[in-house]
Amino acid sequence: MESKKEIILPLPDDFHSHVRQGEVLAGFVQDLASQFGRALIMPNTTPPMVCASQIEQYKKEILDAAKEVNPNFEALMTFKLKPGITEEELLLMKSCGVIAGKYYPAGVTTNSEDGVSDFESVFPVIALMEKLGIVLCVHGEEPGVFCLDRESVFAEKVEILAKQFPKLKIVFEHLSTAKAVDLVKRLPSNVAATITVHHLLMSLDGVIGDALRPHHFCKPLPKRPEDLLALREAAFSGNPKFFLGTDSAPHLKEKKESCCGAAGVYSAKVAIPILVREFLAANVLDKLPDFIGGFGADFYNLPRTQKTIKLVYEPWVVPAEINGVVPLAANESLEWKLV
Ligand code: NCD
Ligand code: ZN
Repeated sequence: MESKKEIILPLPDDFHSHVRQGEVLAGFVQDLASQFGRALIMPNTTPPMVCASQIEQYKKEILDAAKEVNPNFEALMTFKLKPGITEEELLLMKSCGVIAGKYYPAGVTTNSEDGVSDFESVFPVIALMEKLGIVLCVHGEEPGVFCLDRESVFAEKVEILAKQFPKLKIVFEHLSTAKAVDLVKRLPSNVAATITVHHLLMSLDGVIGDALRPHHFCKPLPKRPEDLLALREAAFSGNPKFFLGTDSAPHLKEKKESCCGAAGVYSAKVAIPILVREFLAANVLDKLPDFIGGFGADFYNLPRTQKTIKLVYEPWVVPAEINGVVPLAANESLEWKLV
């Protein structure tokens, strides 16, 4: 396989990405749009994305910024789930390109202080999402629980949601445990999951094992070696329930190298070359096209892309910084380059 000098893949979709706001937005959007054809944009901005007019404006800013590098880039939009959102508002949001609502348990990650604190308070909105065919994306971590148990404890809530709303499509975002992998496999086909690149590369050892690596600090935390193995097995298996959501989450270098560092790994620019390396090493390159450019689109009822990208075997060194952010694999050499 290593002798292959060129790899053609579908133009990838990123079903979980953060591009922030203000003057940093353009650079982050361009990094994303240089690698992906479509991306699902997360709503944890300040203020959060909760209404149609805001989301419409945000989408416009994103597309304007993307134009320079990829005029065909599609921004798939989300709103932040809150109690009390009406059917009329949901319909308006849908007409602005919203395809999913994001459930953030209160306080579990960046800009989630205003997240859901009473599980059942959002059930009426979730029922409307089920009726209108809007996907529910879930940050599955239980607030207040020991950090390594947050996902496995929250998994019970995902199971409740799946039972209570059988026609609702649910994405358990950025899986980090074998328990969540098993649950997603066990639940019916209306429940799927995203997997990030960084959760395919490291256990908690990669964050705090030998040294404190703030640029690997993210939510949910990478867990035990057996969890890492379960995630790799899920991504490499060709099971349509598991697809790429990078959770590329840029924070400026000084916000990460801090006494109270922000959570998030910036992977937009390196995600695809790293995935090629990992799938090749596992001898499952044939499973990569669906993982990055098939299963996610199918789940969201979007047409699969007809476009392709080309990677060539041409080692390159990942920059130490991109747009003021230290990316995943900074200063490391990657063999495959997108051309
Ligand atoms: C994300 C961010 O910074 O917006 N951080 C992270 O560690 N993953 C939010 C999120 O998806 O949890
Ligand atoms: Zn995220």
